[in-house]
Amino acid sequence: EPVRLKDYKAPDYLIDAVDLDVKLHATATRIVSRLSIRPNPHGRRDAALVLDGDGLNARRITLDGEAIDLDKALLSPDQLTLAAPPQRPFALEIETEIDPSANTRLMGLYRSGSAYCTQCEPEGFRRITYFLDRPDVLSVYTVRIEADRSEAPLLLSNGNLIEAGDLEGGKRHYAVWRDPFPKPSYLFALVGGDLGSVHDEFITKSGRKVALGIHVEHGKEPHAAYAMDALKRSMAWDETAFGREYDLDVFNIVAVSDFNMGAMENKGLNIFNDKYVLASPATATDADYAHIEAVIAHEYFHNWTGNRITCRDWFQLCLKEGLTVFRDHEFSSDMRSRAVHRIADVRALRAAQFPEDAGPLAHNVRPETYHEINNFYTATIYEKGAEVIRMLKVLIGEAAFARGMNLYFDRYDGTAATIEDFISCFAEAANRDLTAFSRWYHQSGTPLVEANGAYDAAARTFTLEFRQFSKPTPGQDHKEPFVIPIALGLVGRDGDLPLKVGAQNGASALEISRAVFELSAPSRKITFLDVPSRPVPSLLRGFSAPVRLDYPASEADLITLIAHDSDSFNRWQAAQTYASRLLLRSVANIRAGGEARHDQGFIDALGVVLNKSSDPAYTAQMITLPSEADIARDMGEDVDPDAIHAARDALRQAIGKSLAAGLLSAYARHAENGPYSPDAEAAGRRALRNAALDLYCAGEPVEGARLAARQFEAADTMTNEIAALGALAQRAGSLREGALDTFYRRHAAEALVIDKWFALQAMIPETDTLERIQKLMRHAAFSLQNPNRVRSLIGAFATGNQTRFNAPDGSGYDFVAGVVLDLDQKNPQVAARLLAAFKSWRSLEAKRRGLAEAALRRIAAEGALSADVKDIVERSLG
Ligand code: ARG
Ligand code: ZN
Repeated sequence: EPVRLKDYKAPDYLIDAVDLDVKLHATATRIVSRLSIRPNPHGRRDAALVLDGDGLNARRITLDGEAIDLDKALLSPDQLTLAAPPQRPFALEIETEIDPSANTRLMGLYRSGSAYCTQCEPEGFRRITYFLDRPDVLSVYTVRIEADRSEAPLLLSNGNLIEAGDLEGGKRHYAVWRDPFPKPSYLFALVGGDLGSVHDEFITKSGRKVALGIHVEHGKEPHAAYAMDALKRSMAWDETAFGREYDLDVFNIVAVSDFNMGAMENKGLNIFNDKYVLASPATATDADYAHIEAVIAHEYFHNWTGNRITCRDWFQLCLKEGLTVFRDHEFSSDMRSRAVHRIADVRALRAAQFPEDAGPLAHNVRPETYHEINNFYTATIYEKGAEVIRMLKVLIGEAAFARGMNLYFDRYDGTAATIEDFISCFAEAANRDLTAFSRWYHQSGTPLVEANGAYDAAARTFTLEFRQFSKPTPGQDHKEPFVIPIALGLVGRDGDLPLKVGAQNGASALEISRAVFELSAPSRKITFLDVPSRPVPSLLRGFSAPVRLDYPASEADLITLIAHDSDSFNRWQAAQTYASRLLLRSVANIRAGGEARHDQGFIDALGVVLNKSSDPAYTAQMITLPSEADIARDMGEDVDPDAIHAARDALRQAIGKSLAAGLLSAYARHAENGPYSPDAEAAGRRALRNAALDLYCAGEPVEGARLAARQFEAADTMTNEIAALGALAQRAGSLREGALDTFYRRHAAEALVIDKWFALQAMIPETDTLERIQKLMRHAAFSLQNPNRVRSLIGAFATGNQTRFNAPDGSGYDFVAGVVLDLDQKNPQVAARLLAAFKSWRSLEAKRRGLAEAALRRIAAEGALSADVKDIVERSLG
């Protein structure tokens, strides 16, 4: 029985206040919960009160101080029901006892190392106590925590600390926290432990002094400095960019090493996977620094988009996640290079979200039904959800967008809202009907836009014709047209041409002035006037909509765009399109028994880009070819990963050989030129240098390995060290194995660095990789209990090693299926996420498709699957 959006009903009871009394104990933590309950004036009268539980056992229940007979309370591990509760305000007190040490799902209250921590989103609070565990029940929490001082000198919860003290002569102690902002249970958090702390402060624009704390494993305090810096920048940015100020006197972040996801925005007490907090030049790459900055910002921004305004139900998840990702993308773009950031975001969207939308797990940005909500923390909800908001901004313009955001904050502060509420603010601010635009929330799948251009030399006109197509997706056979904003320009030999459009085309003045044309019907034609010669259209500038674009540009057109397009995204896109076409032709040749294709024109164009290079970060993106997964996605069906690998390898070799001198010179020109800085400029230089090294190694393996070995020996930053190791790992042999051993010895004490060592080995595209992984699973540093270890070894294999996961004998599928089943016994959420690696199985060539399906069917046939894995396997098989 799935949960359905259309069945939403307001709760029959509200819980205005929650008083929790928690006595921490490793195996027997006692929780007394006092709930101030009243009938909801908008609910049904005389309804039963049904509280959610998950594996609970109540030891005592009282109603207004009177003990309730536990049998009469219709008590089960999953539910506590009062058949006829009072129809007036009343107090319910429930005592539960739980075992945090036995909690391997990492939902609810669990142990990470010696610390106690919680994860309650979406439905973890019910693993702590019985509650109306749904986001539209908002309560004020007061939390008293008691523990042995030696075990947990640090006691944290949401809000402000109002009291603390010693017990039993200092052997035990307690702290009382109160969060004045009514919040749903999923934002509750509690931490107890012995951690090292870093403190700072932030003064908001209206003068509130906020005490900031980041709490990490002892000894790691210096590694929290960058996170603290990112936090302060996030707080300042939200004030200027969105007018949002922080609202409590304290803001705490706790880093733990066992965490299912990235991080969690609990009010005033964010809990993080330590991977997104800890950084030092010697242990974290530039990409790690960028991720830390983005996740710190993301969770902080949730304080307004998620916490102050929360979600009415879990179908509205994108209301907070899509919007908050949009906000963190804007932040990172302002902190770094907007152009480079856009490319990275689009690469990530195409890598993670497009395949989801094209396969059996496709779902709406605003889903209408689910079996297991944990499986909906997806790239579609997060990344596509952010793209939809970005499109909205492009469509209605910056000013109307800002007015709409302010309206949203004003009108819905303190409430649990819906997507309709959100959109209505922009409709009002822009004075525009957004019904058709909202289809982006209600229809899944990535639309295909086909464009064609015709130049009429006599009339000096250029006509563009657009058509949109949407394939059926699960449960959606027919789709209404999407409203697709297409930012565009016409590029001539000297750059952009002025756009002039005839009135008969129906293009609005607004469209022309912004150069954003709206494709809201199945097709549309636009004729540009006074075009002196055949132009090259630059379409979907800045990736103005999450669609696939097909325009029959000639190779000469693409070279023109690479050289002259004023839109930096489309210069990059033209190079990607060129490479992708070349690679697809090579794949076809290779499968027909022939050879990879060569195209000196493309390689020369890259050579020009490399030599000009005024922006190293951007140039690094330009010379990085589409990934094997990108090419598979462009093929769409009958995918043969071995042919793709061979084609891409051959092109890398050809580029590396042909541009060897240019690559070496770029490598030399971008050597470190000062003390380490994680900023975008310095990171960009390293990115280009290492991208050059990578291609050089492909073209000149012997010389390249020598260079990489030298870099590996001398490296004093993780960015340069892991890049060198990656370059050395390109070729089997003692050089590679020696470097892997050295790396392990250098970093054995740092679990997060050893994760890189696992991932790098898991992605080696050689036949004995599976054996290597099986051996690494027995390595002392590996543990199936820790999500980061699972993701770096098994996850990297399943999503990052196209040829070996899709090994023609099915061994990769069988292996991952086996791990999924093992893991499902311990941590179903992480198991389900790993299983989602099968999402593109239907697009494989027949033999692999059969083997992948067989592996999925074996899982499906298993008796005792978790709801999480069952849901993914059933949807995958359709
Ligand atoms: N709200 C968190 C974040 O984006 C994600 C938490 C999801 N956790 C989970 N167990 N599904 O930022
Ligand atoms: Zn989030």
